[in-house]
Amino acid sequence: MEQRDQWATKIGLILAMAGNAVGLGNFVRFPTQVAQNGGGAFMVPYFIALFFLGIPVMWIEWVAGRYGGKYGHGTLGPTYYLMARESLKPRSAFWWGVISGMLAFSLTVLLNSYYLHLIGWSAAYSWFSITGAYFGKNTGDFFSNYLNNHGEVMLFWGITVILLAIAVGQGVSKGIERWVKVMMPLLYIFAIIMVGYVFVLGSPIDPNWSTIDGFKFIWSPNWSYLGKHFYTVLLAATGQIFFTLSLGMGIIQNYASYLGPDDDVALSGLATVSLNEFAEVVLGGSLAVPLATAYAPKIVPPDVLSQGKSAALSWIGAKFGLGFSYTSLPNVFVSMGSAGKFFGALWFLLLWFAGFTSAIAMYNYLTALLEEDLGIKRKVGTWVVFLIYLIAGLPVIYISGYMDQVDAWVSFQLTLLALFDIIIAVYLFKPDNFWEELHKGAYMSVPGWYKPIILYIAPILLLIPLIGSAKSLIGATLEWPARLAIISMWIVGAIESYYSIKKKYREELEKNEVI
Ligand code: PHE
Ligand code: NA
Repeated sequence: MEQRDQWATKIGLILAMAGNAVGLGNFVRFPTQVAQNGGGAFMVPYFIALFFLGIPVMWIEWVAGRYGGKYGHGTLGPTYYLMARESLKPRSAFWWGVISGMLAFSLTVLLNSYYLHLIGWSAAYSWFSITGAYFGKNTGDFFSNYLNNHGEVMLFWGITVILLAIAVGQGVSKGIERWVKVMMPLLYIFAIIMVGYVFVLGSPIDPNWSTIDGFKFIWSPNWSYLGKHFYTVLLAATGQIFFTLSLGMGIIQNYASYLGPDDDVALSGLATVSLNEFAEVVLGGSLAVPLATAYAPKIVPPDVLSQGKSAALSWIGAKFGLGFSYTSLPNVFVSMGSAGKFFGALWFLLLWFAGFTSAIAMYNYLTALLEEDLGIKRKVGTWVVFLIYLIAGLPVIYISGYMDQVDAWVSFQLTLLALFDIIIAVYLFKPDNFWEELHKGAYMSVPGWYKPIILYIAPILLLIPLIGSAKSLIGATLEWPARLAIISMWIVGAIESYYSIKKKYREELEKNEVI
């Protein structure tokens, strides 16, 4: 058999994993969650979730990925079949594999149907910033005009996805690794330049409003808010930890499958978490919120502004979200004058890089699936993925409400798959095996007291976002296009993973079973 591709350098691997985790979540979703959940009130459960849920699940996914890679698998179906087989009969293990593979496949396609569009918007907006296209205009109208210009939307989407196809087509060590080695350092440099600017900005337009207000909002623990809205804030914090670390997708496992069997996972997993958290709480936390407060008089309506600071902050919080980056922040850049063209372009380029390096990982998951499970060559497979994405992305442009409906299911499936991670890669694989795998070739030893955290505390904490996202599905609208997309992706995913496990392990599956 052909030798499986492996990461060429440690730094390349770490940057690829950081690129995987660092995404739009760090610079857009994180500030949104902080702003909507009482600022400093959010940070307390956030760090708890990081320590008790994020780090454990990150390790679990690294262990699972390296294990699957040893047997030539970079997809969840066959990998989780093999792990579940440690304590189940092949026929039962088979179904755990099929369902995991199904969840991962459908998640990747559904998430990318809109994630890639958001990345495309960022590409468009770096162009609009440098050319000053929205300067002197109503930024809200400008944004909706842009979204209605489908040709333009598809152009920037196309540029982005063609570049992804090229990078992934070149392979893991020769493609992805080389691209992230350039893009990730640039991403950190862009972000640090912008944060530096925010620090010297002070009160740019009104002595009553400064960036410091934003920093205070995020960094002073707001216990009374937390007490009042405890469950909501906890739910938001655990959900954010999940999303930002790219957990529950199968893509950390996919990247880890290109490790050698004795390569470290313990310290590398921790390094991934640290690089993501630096980009999130330090960099992501120092951009959108402090900028919004310093320029509050330009973006908050006068009647709200006159009610004082906390009213203005909660207005900003409520307004935060996707639209905020593309409508309110452009107003901030316009107020900066000609420097705004530069900083606007830098901001959107930062978002583009962040999204791109996460999208590469998902792109590679589907390419690996075609390559390993179905025998389609990588160079061809990347263009098959391109077509899948093209079709999956069309309803996002043409059907309003589609994106939000799909997104609600994506959030639920992410947490469900993470639960599968713990059940399969720790419990069915057997906790002692897991612990041994975690330490094989490890550059650090995980203290023994962390074991009960992984075994008991992480799954209990996981139930919070799992139940929360399941609950929000109950009342949610789901029109037929979204329903059709979700169900058909489940079916395709299930068939694919059924077939991929059967193909390779038919013999042992048939040996023990009486059908
Ligand atoms: N971790 C990415 C971010 O912070 C988002 C993501 C989640 C990407 C899951 C891929 C898979 O933006
Ligand atoms: Na992230």
